[in-house]
Amino acid sequence: MRGSLAMKMVLLSLLLSLLVHCSASYPLCTDLRAPFNADNAGLAFCRYNGSICCNSSQDLQLQKQFKAMNVSDPGCASLLKSVLCARCDPFSGELYQVEQAPRAVPVLCNSSVSANSTRSQLYILDFCSNLWDKCHNTSILNSPFAFESKAKTTAGFGSRISDSWSSAAEFCNEFGGASDNTSVCFSGGPVKLAGAENSSTPSGVCLEKLGNGSYLNMVAHSDGSNRVFLSNQPGKIWLATIPKQGSGEILGINESSPFLDLTDEVHFESELGMMGLALHPNYQNNGRFFVSFNCDKVKWPECSGRCSCNSDVGCDPSKIGPDNGANPCQYHSVISEFTTNQSSPSGTVIPKEVRRIFTMGLPFSAHHGGQILFGPKDGYLYFMMGDGGSIGDPYNFSQNRKSLLGKIMRLDVDNLPNSTMISKSGLWGNYSVPEDNPFSVDKELASEIWALGFRNPWRCSFDLERPSYFLCADVGQDLYEEVNIVTKGGNYGWRVYEGPILYHPPQNPGGNTSASSIKPIFPVMGYNHSQLQNPQGSASITGGYFYRSMVDPCLYGRYMYADLYGSGGIWVGTENPENSGNFTSAQVPYGCAKDSPIQCGAEDESLPALGAIFSFGQDNSKDTFVLTSSGLYRIVSPSRCNFACSKETVTPRSPPASNPPPPPPSTSMAMPWRHRGPGFSLLSPVISYIFLFGMCCNL
Ligand SMILES: *[C@@H]1O[C@H](CO)[C@@H](O)[C@H](O)[C@H]1NC(C)=O
Ligand SMILES: *[C@@H]1O[C@H](CO)[C@@H](O)[C@H](O)[C@H]1NC(C)=O
Ligand SMILES: *[C@@H]1O[C@H](CO)[C@@H](O)[C@H](O)[C@H]1NC(C)=O
Ligand SMILES: *[C@@H]1O[C@H](CO)[C@@H](O)[C@H](O)[C@H]1NC(C)=O
Ligand SMILES: *[C@@H]1O[C@H](CO)[C@@H](O)[C@H](O)[C@H]1NC(C)=O
Ligand SMILES: *[C@@H]1O[C@H](CO)[C@@H](O)[C@H](O)[C@H]1NC(C)=O
Ligand SMILES: *[C@@H]1O[C@H](CO)[C@@H](O)[C@H](O)[C@H]1NC(C)=O
Ligand SMILES: *[C@@H]1O[C@H](CO)[C@@H](O)[C@H](O)[C@H]1NC(C)=O
Ligand SMILES: *[C@@H]1O[C@H](CO)[C@@H](O)[C@H](O)[C@H]1NC(C)=O
Ligand SMILES: *[C@@H]1O[C@H](CO)[C@@H](O)[C@H](O)[C@H]1NC(C)=O
Ligand SMILES: *[C@@H]1O[C@H](CO)[C@@H](O)[C@H](O)[C@H]1NC(C)=O
Ligand SMILES: *[C@@H]1O[C@H](CO)[C@@H](O)[C@H](O)[C@H]1NC(C)=O
Repeated sequence: MRGSLAMKMVLLSLLLSLLVHCSASYPLCTDLRAPFNADNAGLAFCRYNGSICCNSSQDLQLQKQFKAMNVSDPGCASLLKSVLCARCDPFSGELYQVEQAPRAVPVLCNSSVSANSTRSQLYILDFCSNLWDKCHNTSILNSPFAFESKAKTTAGFGSRISDSWSSAAEFCNEFGGASDNTSVCFSGGPVKLAGAENSSTPSGVCLEKLGNGSYLNMVAHSDGSNRVFLSNQPGKIWLATIPKQGSGEILGINESSPFLDLTDEVHFESELGMMGLALHPNYQNNGRFFVSFNCDKVKWPECSGRCSCNSDVGCDPSKIGPDNGANPCQYHSVISEFTTNQSSPSGTVIPKEVRRIFTMGLPFSAHHGGQILFGPKDGYLYFMMGDGGSIGDPYNFSQNRKSLLGKIMRLDVDNLPNSTMISKSGLWGNYSVPEDNPFSVDKELASEIWALGFRNPWRCSFDLERPSYFLCADVGQDLYEEVNIVTKGGNYGWRVYEGPILYHPPQNPGGNTSASSIKPIFPVMGYNHSQLQNPQGSASITGGYFYRSMVDPCLYGRYMYADLYGSGGIWVGTENPENSGNFTSAQVPYGCAKDSPIQCGAEDESLPALGAIFSFGQDNSKDTFVLTSSGLYRIVSPSRCNFACSKETVTPRSPPASNPPPPPPSTSMAMPWRHRGPGFSLLSPVISYIFLFGMCCNL
């Protein structure tokens, strides 16, 4: 019964996700870049202050445009001024619908929306009709309303709005729009969003353990089934089956039968290994899949490429590397393309390397991210790269606009260049560069770069329901672990800043970047190292996902992340108002479902001994998983841990056919796994991982 209900819910939520209009986004300017902070005075003409999308010269330009309209009626003039100034609004990208069909005027609010709706304006006003009333009879030179489609086809229109449009209804049909969950409209002033109805932190995250294996990546199969690809750091990939929620079954995986075994090519130690895995958006038809890993050129001749420490970026390779210059760029970061098109005689699929997409020699052995993801909207390959290691990015690679270290890259793997183009263009492999990468505006940037100023982006994700939300956690140095909303051309500050804090490197042979010369985008979430109760004093963030399953309705819509050492609990970030980019985050306790298919903790341990939290994953049912040194965990109904969640409708579970029924959840007995004293802060298996997987600090 429950199974079919769960299935219906999955289908329903899949259906809903298809219906969701994909424009919902955080504040974004019309050039698709993030808004920036105004100087103290704000803008002289447009009066926008705080977070804005215009600089002073654009403000001046708008003033000129306003004057050129030569509007005599003061009531109309003030409305028109506000319409022009919508360019400076932090939501201007959405107001002008630049991601769909860019408009000359923002969407003018034409109807009131229920104040209940989470995306409604706080000040509801039929701004469009108001503008019509005040302006339609007024002469407007160079009218922006004349640029829209219909006006152009109307022969001989004059300077009044009423010369182009016959009625308020006609006018507002063209320029009007409503504000709801998924879009915003302009009502005369800065866009305001209504707060969410209940944004209080969930009382806990309930986990069940599905497997004992330790994995770094989980990628849902693109056939929509319950299968996922799982990869581990030494270099194996498996195709595994995720059991249904509540079935009591464990992960279906045959460890001795990997889908792909690259352990001979992959160099595995500490921060080196197989780091990423991505399926081409059209994998179902073309079988193309991509693997990101590290290799050692001493051990494997095919591991060879240009060194990221070179004269272009002011770095002398004879002075760097694990052996102090003896073997510069010994380790490489590579992306390889494989195919599953070729079938073996026995009918199983043989993955075969097709081409090397990218190869870059690394200066040190740490901080090189390595995750790869295809953008859900643009189909390009995003590649996360850290600063290359050592304390405080001594060569200042992250701020160096010619270096690919400390960057998020965006590559086109569908339009492949020929060999002449590769050697001429200075590319690092077999890919091309999307025309709208930010270098097209900022000529100083290496063309591959999408965003800069990262130390070690450790786990990024796109929100399943709002693909413009691209969140990346970035591992800190000594003080602060951060989560960023990554936008085109954004500079996330390292090593001028560590999180929001100015950073001073102990050594800087590669020079400095001054704080006044950059416009950093500060993190939207994060934590201070001092907030962790961790005897080692170490911290290293692991970014996660927006939780989009309804299995835990109290977690729905929140961003989850964790500290590698597991000592900080799991962090949950809540955005309020929705789509505002304004997050608050808090640690929430986690528990282990009493009926977990595999016991989560030791016998005497009531709390799950997660170990080191390497990564998170999502499957085709939108469930979120925690990938740790001790195994694979799935987030389940809070009631299975007796966590309170008023939104959860608890239905009695029917026992799975083949397994003995789980003990019924007790409401009266004090559950041992609910006991959450300070004792849950650190679990012993973690300690060894600090050395095995020392992603953090001081390396
Ligand atoms: C921004 O402008 C508003 C309205 O003019 C004003 O109330 C607010 O104090 C200003 N904020 C800052 C940071 O200047
Ligand atoms: C203002 O922004 C425009 C468009 O991004 C840019 O071309 C111009 O250089 C900027 N001006 C200043 C003074 O920053
Ligand atoms: C601006 O409007 C005034 C009347 O309001 C008129 O005298 C003047 O000629 C107009 N300027 C232009 C450039 O049309
Ligand atoms: C809010 O929504 C509830 C239920 O949909 C409705 O009963 C109520 O009238 C709404 N309130 C407002 C102010 O729209
Ligand atoms: C608009 O202008 C016309 C002619 O100039 C005038 O007859 C009409 O009354 C005006 N309408 C309004 C609403 O002001
Ligand atoms: C508001 O604008 C939308 C989009 O153009 C349109 O569908 C709707 O009918 C308009 N509503 C009113 C009341 O004009
Ligand atoms: C807006 O959100 C509410 C509750 O979150 C939902 O019931 C409603 O269907 C949404 N409306 C649209 C247009 O998506
Ligand atoms: C996982 O490990 C636990 C404890 O070591 C063991 O009892 C269990 O059988 C293992 N399960 C699987 C599926 O390997
Ligand atoms: C697991 O894979 C190995 C190697 O292919 C095979 O011999 C074995 O039968 C498989 N085990 C199961 C349970 O399918
Ligand atoms: C490589 O591609 C470029 C640009 O498309 C073209 O001009 C050139 O002739 C090609 N060279 C070869 C050897 O195909
Ligand atoms: C950001 O969120 C906090 C907590 O929910 C709230 O108090 C604050 O008003 C929000 N800020 C803005 C600008 O919406
Ligand atoms: C908000 O949610 C929390 C946790 O789910 C719950 O305890 C609280 O009662 C809710 N508050 C309201 C006003 O619904």
